Amino acid sequence: MNELADSADVSRFVVTSNRGFAAYAQDELRSLTPGTKFDELIAAETYVMRIPLDRETAIRRITGNEPIFLRHMFPIDETVAYSGGNEDIGAIAAAVAKLAPAAGRSAAIQIRKAERLSPGFEMSELKLGIVSMLHETYDADAVAKDADYIVSVFLTEEAAYIGISEPEQNLSDWPGGAVRFRKEEGQVSRAKFKLLEAEYEFGLDLSRYAKALDIGAAPGGWTSLLLERGVEVTAVDPADLHPDLLGHPKLTFMKRNAGDVKFCEHSYDLLVCDMSWSPKMMVKLILPLLEALKPGGAAIITLKLMHGKPFQTVKDCVRAMQPGMELVKAKQLFHNRDELTVFLTKKY
Ligand SMILES: C[S@@+](CC[C@H](N)C(=O)[O-])C[C@H]1O[C@@H](n2cnc3c(N)ncnc32)[C@H](O)[C@@H]1O
Repeated sequence: MNELADSADVSRFVVTSNRGFAAYAQDELRSLTPGTKFDELIAAETYVMRIPLDRETAIRRITGNEPIFLRHMFPIDETVAYSGGNEDIGAIAAAVAKLAPAAGRSAAIQIRKAERLSPGFEMSELKLGIVSMLHETYDADAVAKDADYIVSVFLTEEAAYIGISEPEQNLSDWPGGAVRFRKEEGQVSRAKFKLLEAEYEFGLDLSRYAKALDIGAAPGGWTSLLLERGVEVTAVDPADLHPDLLGHPKLTFMKRNAGDVKFCEHSYDLLVCDMSWSPKMMVKLILPLLEALKPGGAAIITLKLMHGKPFQTVKDCVRAMQPGMELVKAKQLFHNRDELTVFLTKKY
């Protein structure tokens, strides 16, 4: 990869998607900036991207037109040769210290490596080496979250790619965009993580909604999160909700098919839907229910990717909901499997 050295108007990034979806992210990135090229680090997931733009322009363009399938990126500001031995720790830490910003700011250290790489040191030792160096040089504190800047390191057989960036420049401040929530005792379903991640990804505060409709709610992970946020929820599903939820004073459960329920116009300010149906069927079921949303209300909907045409699927679904609904953002979340999540608002 050495012959692909940067020039003033070519910059490099490590870019990551959900496993199996990198080709879509690459299509999006190439159509944003023709001439962009990729070299594999982890198959179908993580790549070095060479983009014919300077670093700042590339970051501005990508963060301003966020690709649906790009989970995470970081700029490669320095490349250090990898030998696999302990001496790498000092070399990487020294390179980080050279790049790091002025004193007194907090740093998150995020280290990843190629899948089968087994260095002669632990990742924790490398992290400690970087933290000590930053502390000695800049009196910088290492933090896990809400850092002023992120130090990213990706180790491969040939090199350590190093980048220093602000959290928003990486699209996600989780290492590689792998959003990890702690599973709670008695958690109703893992699907809850999807809505939690959507809340974070779309910059929402679910507690600001008073009344929500949850379509395809069982066993109740999304419903339980909305209830925790203090939202009054009407949950619709022919399947059973988890018994722990039943009897909650803010919950109305309709054990019915979404096609068989009707609600008053403009009576809810949030609609969420996580039905495992084809997007076409989902839209057919959801369209009449969107009438129940107030103008200015929001919808968070999971779209299943059925036939490998995700961009067309998003376009078709959004078009079917227009002109009343406006797409704010479509994103494949870390917790999405063969699906993506759309966030829309109601215009009128
Ligand atoms: C992936 S699960 C939803 C998980 C849920 N979001 C949670 O957090 O626990 C999909 C649900 O959609 C429901 N579903 C499928 N078709 C439906 C329909 N026509 N009307 C209402 N619910 C439906 C299924 O019964 C199933 O419970």
